[in-house]
Amino acid sequence: MSVIKSVVRGVGSYLPERVLTNSELARSVDTSDEWIVQRTGIRERHIAATGELTSDLARHAATRALADAGLVAGDIDLIILATSTPDQTFPATAATVQAQLGITQGAAFDLQAVCSGFVFALATADAHLRTGSFKRALVIGAETFSRILDWEDRGTCVLFGDGAGAVVLEACDSAEVGERGILTTHLRSDGRHRSKLFVDGGPSSTQTVGHLRMEGREVFKHAVGMITDVIEDAFAATGASADTIDWFVPHQANRRIIDASAQKLGIAPSKVVTTVDLHGNTSAASIPLALDTAHKDGRIKSGDLVLLEAMGGGFTWGSALIRW
Ligand code: UT7
Repeated sequence: MSVIKSVVRGVGSYLPERVLTNSELARSVDTSDEWIVQRTGIRERHIAATGELTSDLARHAATRALADAGLVAGDIDLIILATSTPDQTFPATAATVQAQLGITQGAAFDLQAVCSGFVFALATADAHLRTGSFKRALVIGAETFSRILDWEDRGTCVLFGDGAGAVVLEACDSAEVGERGILTTHLRSDGRHRSKLFVDGGPSSTQTVGHLRMEGREVFKHAVGMITDVIEDAFAATGASADTIDWFVPHQANRRIIDASAQKLGIAPSKVVTTVDLHGNTSAASIPLALDTAHKDGRIKSGDLVLLEAMGGGFTWGSALIRW
């Protein structure tokens, strides 16, 4: 019996031009290139230009994903944009991107699950495509975290950066695409941890935008366990394993979290895609940025089994397993 599956047709990403290195940061806060590299693996991050908005980053990534898919904007009838740094409180940044791309059909909305946003958006798009309500989705992660950082707090400002990534998903008949497509997704949240990573402002509470606050050590403590749990769920649902996956594309927050998660799961280091050194933690944009890198450099090929995971504020966490 054939079923509808969501197949990845294209991927694209965008990083703002301006690069901020660790050494440059060390001139404004009490830190060092050595500390940042050793504790996080981050070497540099990109910062959006004045007037360059989350929607601009998102549009560039989306345009590149469409080109990679060989499609045009008019082929898209669903846009889900994962972001915690929208252009405005409302309307959704996805609606801005939709208008800028000239799309007038279907639906566009934002999704907020902080660093897990891309996995949550992918799972949401997959669910909509499989019901037959939509045919082709742009799933975008786009952030301008530089706008919500406290640049005097060395515990957070060295960690984050701006960027965007996108994939095009298409609803396909399994009779035509065989094994390809999203195989399983697993989403989790536990709001009891919400004060460990949050922004101290918002329209309803302070009527300000606020700044990111994090108990880094506390987040770190929970991260590996949550990540590995939700990956075990993906393995249990599909019969896949650390040995049978081709690529592990984790949320890019900290090299030590990535390495510890891969090690706990028994995933060979050669299968781990890491780009955190080049853009820091770009929250919802980090997974599609890493996916695009490994897709463009020829590592991820059609038919490969690709495992994604993310963990972030809320806490939220999730995994997805894709036959590329
Ligand atoms: O996407 C999910 C969101 N977030 C994360 O995944 C982040 C999770 N957490 C982490 O990645 C790590 O906890 C950090 C990278 C934030 C911190 O690394 P750590 O190994 O947990 O360091 P720590 O917080 O235990 O701090 C160690 C020391 C402290 O000094 P004392 O108390 O030992 O004297 C900090 O004050 O490092 C100090 N420190 C710094 N030193 C230089 C904290 N930030 C800096 C800094 N430069 N930027």
